[in-house]
Amino acid sequence: MRGVFINPVSSVEGEIQVPGDKSISHRAALLGGMAHGETHVSNFLLGQDCLSTLRCLKQLGVHWERQGTEVWIRGEGMEAWQEPSDVLDAGNSGTTSRLMLGALAGSPFAVTLTGDASLRSRPMRRVTDPLKQMGAQIMGRKGGDFAPLTMSGGHLQGQVFRTTVASAQVKSAIILAGLRASGETRVEEPALSRDHTERMLRGFGVEVQSEETVVKVHGGGCLTGQKVSVPGDISSAAFFLVLGSLVGRGEMILPNVGVNPTRTGILDALKAMGADIELLNVSEICGEPRATLRVRPAQLKGIEIGGTLIPRLIDEIPILAVAASFAEGETVIRDAAELRVKETDRIRTVAVGLNALGAKVEELPDGLRIQGQTSLRGGQASSLGDHRLAMAWAIAGLVSKEGVSVENMEAADVSYPDFLSVIKKVAQ
Ligand code: S3P
Repeated sequence: MRGVFINPVSSVEGEIQVPGDKSISHRAALLGGMAHGETHVSNFLLGQDCLSTLRCLKQLGVHWERQGTEVWIRGEGMEAWQEPSDVLDAGNSGTTSRLMLGALAGSPFAVTLTGDASLRSRPMRRVTDPLKQMGAQIMGRKGGDFAPLTMSGGHLQGQVFRTTVASAQVKSAIILAGLRASGETRVEEPALSRDHTERMLRGFGVEVQSEETVVKVHGGGCLTGQKVSVPGDISSAAFFLVLGSLVGRGEMILPNVGVNPTRTGILDALKAMGADIELLNVSEICGEPRATLRVRPAQLKGIEIGGTLIPRLIDEIPILAVAASFAEGETVIRDAAELRVKETDRIRTVAVGLNALGAKVEELPDGLRIQGQTSLRGGQASSLGDHRLAMAWAIAGLVSKEGVSVENMEAADVSYPDFLSVIKKVAQ
């Protein structure tokens, strides 16, 4: 298959409004469907993943309408959800599948949930085990670890969980099930993962207690429809932050980007590498902080990252690895074994892809070791169907010597449908 060829550029200029946050869009649709009354979502992400969540809700009998990036959901509460007459298809989306299972665990009917080949190879026991402990019956491939999964929900009992991975999808699935369980449900994570579910539930009128890495909810809470304004996705902005840092000349402005502290690890890492990034006009709307980001070129230097920073930048590691390939010295990323169970095994696919373009990347069991260089040759790289790889290779092409041919570039549609036309606009 012929790829999309990305030519190198020497400068970038312009203002880019990155599309709505993927995590927040999923939650706005799902909580809107669980609530009583109308929910209006603005700047909803039209990526394939969030459209999967909307499609699943329709199959459950939730009424919604969409015009462009605005979505109106006519919530009638979860009591009104109906047994779907067909399999729910979460496509490529781990968030759709895991949060949907949590939300449905208290429903007294059967659902079967599946997804594409990538999703069917991703571990599900991390959510099916706790939901089973709460009282749901779940069967799936390999003892319930892989989709297709069939769940028959019903009476749930609140429980205390200590998770072994810092995962917002796991935490959120348990919290959503906890809302329909008797008594209290408590989740403690090894490090704090993104907290959009907790923040948005409060906006929908539910009491959620959280302190550091512990979250508690009580069953029986009722959600009331809300207006949700989705900020731009910092995970999408990350591609331009790296482009704007590595390119020779120019300045880029990214207005209205979500800067929730559980997501800003990429800002911390790039700044520690010497990036020239400034936050302007910081504000908070619908419980989520946002800001305008300004980026200018800078010489980056290698750093070591690991520990509690990792969940705060887990989705940005592919593009961070591109940045590290141009940094002075070595960058070491550790404690990131979770990357092996993302849309692809991103430790392997990032190392293989970047090395094919002329970088020096070593695969570690739980991360990457990257020797920075002054330039990157370019060549051919495939997204392997992974949206974040598609965009990382395109950015690598813009800052390479010879350009990059990106195979399966359309994978970017999962989280950034307009990506190619936007880079054509800013790259000169
Ligand atoms: C997400 C959580 C993260 C992230 C994913 C979106 C979410 O996954 O990688 O892209 O919306 O909750 P984990 O929670 O499994 O780490």
